[in-house]
Amino acid sequence: YSPKVDTLSKWLQNSTHTTILTGAGMSTESNIPDFRSKEGWWNNIDPRTVATTDALRDDYDLFHEFYSMRINGLKQCKPNIGHDILADWEQKGLIQAIATQNVDGFHTLAGSKNIYELHGSIHKFRCGNCAMSAEEEDFLSESNCKYCGGKLRPGVVLFGEMLPEESWRDSLTHIQKSDLVIVIGTSLEVYPASQLPKMTNGKTVYINAEVDTTHHNFDLMIEGKAGEILKLVDELV
Ligand code: NAD
Ligand code: APR
Repeated sequence: YSPKVDTLSKWLQNSTHTTILTGAGMSTESNIPDFRSKEGWWNNIDPRTVATTDALRDDYDLFHEFYSMRINGLKQCKPNIGHDILADWEQKGLIQAIATQNVDGFHTLAGSKNIYELHGSIHKFRCGNCAMSAEEEDFLSESNCKYCGGKLRPGVVLFGEMLPEESWRDSLTHIQKSDLVIVIGTSLEVYPASQLPKMTNGKTVYINAEVDTTHHNFDLMIEGKAGEILKLVDELV
């Protein structure tokens, strides 16, 4: 029994508009490494060297290798109990929207409907030159764009790129009208998603494996694994 879990279950039941903000920590229990924990992606690869528009332009082999590895790595993974519980809570009307920094599509796979992908999706592909959409196998086989011969890229937001305007705007709208915002599995290191928790007048909750790293002051902070904490809360709602 945890008083914090009890408090969160009460806030969840009493809130009228709840928005969830998730990051890579939501998917580590699906065996997808996050970015900045000890075993995160970025520990042996500097994100500024691969997930950037410069790498796409000047070092396509490295860019292609990194994203091919992530795409193939995803194929053995699936949503975990945390994704499933959030989908169930939406069905029950307990939460209204999920804004995610993840590109793995696992919230959708788990059955959530109202999702905003702030950093795009690794399941979509387009030409880096003419932006015509392309297929995954074309990207993986390093085929060039069939319309202009340009290089293909996944539909993820690279460092330095603008976020998809609609996802950003709609997420902000939900956050601003929320009386409860629950932030799960994100270090809040990356701008502008990291600003979202500051933009609500509602109660803010942080569920994270490490809670001492965030600089934002939350009304409630619960240290632990997303899947495990959500399961405990789910038993009380
Ligand atoms: P950054 O400082 O360049 O990021 C800020 C980005 O957000 C800038 O491109 C800026 O134009 C944009 N931005 C700022 N305010 C905005 C607003 N109000 N509306 C829309 N866009 C706004 O570098 P960063 O913060 O480290 O990362 C930039 C982006 O790249 C982030 O979204 C990051 O998550 C993303 N990224 C994605 C991956 C991936 O694999 N999906 C990897 C690395 C980075
Ligand atoms: N449960 C809860 N929290 C977890 C878990 C878990 N099972 N596993 C890891 N975490 C926490 C880590 O402690 C870390 O604080 O999740 C956080 C993940 O943070 P990051 O690795 O920085 O991932 P994220 O915040 O999503 O990164 C934001 O940076 O590179 C860009 O675009 C990329 O979307 C990504 C963005």
